[in-house]
Amino acid sequence: MENNIQGKTYVVSGATSGIGYATAKLLVDQGAFVIGIGRSEERCWTAKKELMAENPEGQIVMCVADLSLQRSIRGLRSEIENILKDHGRQGLDGLVNNAGTFTYWQTLTAEGFEMQWAVNHLAPFLMSNVLLPLLMEAPTARIVTVSSDSHFQGRMKWSDLQLSRCYNGLFAYGNTKLGNVLFTRAFNHLIGSQSSVKAFAADPGLVKTEIGFKDTPPLVRWIWARRRSGGTSADVPARNIVYLLSEPSIQDSNEIYWKNCRPKKASRKAQTMQDAQRLWTVSEKMCGMA
Ligand SMILES: NC(=O)c1ccc[n+]([C@@H]2O[C@H](COP(=O)([O-])OP(=O)(O)OC[C@H]3O[C@@H](n4cnc5c(N)ncnc54)[C@H](OP(=O)(O)O)[C@@H]3O)[C@@H](O)[C@H]2O)c1
Repeated sequence: MENNIQGKTYVVSGATSGIGYATAKLLVDQGAFVIGIGRSEERCWTAKKELMAENPEGQIVMCVADLSLQRSIRGLRSEIENILKDHGRQGLDGLVNNAGTFTYWQTLTAEGFEMQWAVNHLAPFLMSNVLLPLLMEAPTARIVTVSSDSHFQGRMKWSDLQLSRCYNGLFAYGNTKLGNVLFTRAFNHLIGSQSSVKAFAADPGLVKTEIGFKDTPPLVRWIWARRRSGGTSADVPARNIVYLLSEPSIQDSNEIYWKNCRPKKASRKAQTMQDAQRLWTVSEKMCGMA
């Protein structure tokens, strides 16, 4: 593949481990300037150190932000603007909404949202909107949101989107991943069709990462240890994400859900524009946007 990455600038959320780390590495190795986001200062520092050890010429800056909190996401705009200014760069060529969590027990953020809803759905929605002016400065830009085939199990319960009355960790996860595809659809309809910014949703497949081991009960860790053994390395979904960020021929594609650099059919529930727009409106309200 032709290198369309050299000299470009990308933001990757959840760049401290798994798919986000592999994506940041692939971008840095191909000559991009990467702004990685992580929630822990220590893990950000370690990820940067490891990336630089493998590629001393690599250009990577890490920002610490807890994406479960809307105030942290809003703060990223000026932080990223300052980083771009300091490095003599203008605008962003892409944003990878990758950070994600699986929360077995119902957990609320400090702002009162259900944790998976906040990190997996609201954060990509808000971050894409907050960084949109910077993405619009590039001749063309891409937003890639890391979804999952778990979205096939998702079903928006419009009267209780955060499942406050009947929480189930797996259903909640599937709903957020359905939200990722619906967000992508609505974005392209409302913004992508009138701008140079295009959104795609990525299916990583089953990937051998630590996601099921983080703050989960022993049974979930046991299941994930067995389940992930059949998964791929994080380099595989990273290649799909980098393709979606950079491949010129797909700029006008109507396909929104992709795996292994090929479009694939999203679930029936992810096809409805009415639901996509409804979720967009609800998300705007939840994020306090006019
Ligand atoms: N692994 C799979 O089989 C699979 C399949 C389908 C979809 N996915 C999706 O792929 C994405 C990446 O997951 P992964 O498997 O690579 O898991 P992972 O290794 O746990 O990576 C998740 C990343 O998100 C970060 N993160 C979590 N909560 C955050 C918060 N509140 N604020 C900021 N960053 C936060 C994590 O930070 P820390 O390093 O601090 O934990 C980490 O960098 C997720 O969206 C997940 O839903 C994964």
